[in-house]
Amino acid sequence: MNPPPSRYPSHPFAADFVWGVATSAFQIEGAATADGKGESIWDRFCRQPGAIADGSHGDVACDHYHRLEADLDLIADLGVDAYRFSVSWPRVQPAGQGAFNEAGLAFYGRLIDGLAARGIKPYLTLNHWDLPQALQDQGGWARRDTVHRFVDYARHVAARLGDRVAAITTHNEPWVMAVLGHESGLFAPGIRHRGTAMQVAHHLLLSHGLALRALRADACPARLGIVLNLSPIGPATDSPEDAAAARLEDGRCVRWYMDPLFRGQYPADVWQHLGADVPLVHEGDMAAIATPMDFLGINYYTRGVVSASGTWSAQHGGKPLTDMGWEIVPEGLTELLLRLHREWRPPALYVMENGAAFQDTLEHTPEGPRVHDADRVDYIARHIGALDDAVAQGVPVAGYMVWSLMDNFEWASGYAKRFGIVHTDYATLARTPKDSYLWYRGFLRLQAQRRAQAAQAQVPVP
Ligand code: FCB
Repeated sequence: MNPPPSRYPSHPFAADFVWGVATSAFQIEGAATADGKGESIWDRFCRQPGAIADGSHGDVACDHYHRLEADLDLIADLGVDAYRFSVSWPRVQPAGQGAFNEAGLAFYGRLIDGLAARGIKPYLTLNHWDLPQALQDQGGWARRDTVHRFVDYARHVAARLGDRVAAITTHNEPWVMAVLGHESGLFAPGIRHRGTAMQVAHHLLLSHGLALRALRADACPARLGIVLNLSPIGPATDSPEDAAAARLEDGRCVRWYMDPLFRGQYPADVWQHLGADVPLVHEGDMAAIATPMDFLGINYYTRGVVSASGTWSAQHGGKPLTDMGWEIVPEGLTELLLRLHREWRPPALYVMENGAAFQDTLEHTPEGPRVHDADRVDYIARHIGALDDAVAQGVPVAGYMVWSLMDNFEWASGYAKRFGIVHTDYATLARTPKDSYLWYRGFLRLQAQRRAQAAQAQVPVP
């Protein structure tokens, strides 16, 4: 049962536009100690009383590690072109340095081969937050040596898997790892120190640039990039104080990453604002960070509204909210894409995550279990429409991925927040495609039909 076709964006997307769905290792795999996997900072963080809203952890999660084949079938039945997943560093290199774990590498080999057998392009993320705890014990991302450990890990993974994946992204959302992990302490490793956070952000960017250089030198055939969480950030009122606060927040969240990656420099206003908390930057670091990428990945969920008196407000302007308390602002995606294209000109852009948490209900009907998540269908359809608007205005967007394939461990929110287009029953681990899965599948079929028609129209009549 699909919603009416009028809900689909009207324009056909380019024939080579990549439609996908995304997950990350820690959030779905479980198997926390299986086959020689080492401990990650998220394994450790979950044990801290009060760190995770529902007191949960990732030991089992969706048990994807043991349900790989069935999950691959779910991805294939959806009809996507691409699947974005991450490699768990401690699964393939338990201590973060030294010996690699063949069993861990074999798992990702099976995943990639399983995707290829189903005609789906693998998009591999090297670091979706689960740093080996052994490296954290030596200082983690705040320590410069971790940069080189990451480059070694990246080279090894790329040498083993790089010829079978379409793209490799180094880091997922450095701002989140730096600021939520080391300034607010809301995420692993739970440190609260702004200077540390800024040093971490620098090391993440540097390790990205050095990894790109190394993979290129190794002739890695995959396309290379990074994934940033970006939002349009504006002032709550017309006051000059709010405008200044919004400009600074934009500097800390957007320009602090975009400027070094595309211009080889940190934004001067933020640098000045940070005072003693600026990172230590060695000669040559900025040039390394600005190593040209093949594409930029962005994750978009909501906008930011900032006032001088406080930080972000979730409910500005009475827009509807998701279950995370995030405003639903599809036009923010258009605005963001236009700005990125105008100011930094990335060679290509991918929306690597977009989706929403809502309080879904699993209904038992005579036809079987169902989840009527009309809110999520609406969210996704409207964001694809916003993407379409950006493409129509000339932004080179090459792909879009829904977050997430299935309900999973939503970090500090535990299992209470559901982002999946497939429902996960955590008692039985049963997967139930939601209406949003059926809608996306219908949308993808329509895209495929249009592609086929367009291809046929180009065939010369004999
Ligand atoms: C992003 C993360 C992803 C997921 C979504 C909801 O910040 O990259 O793992 O948790 O938010």
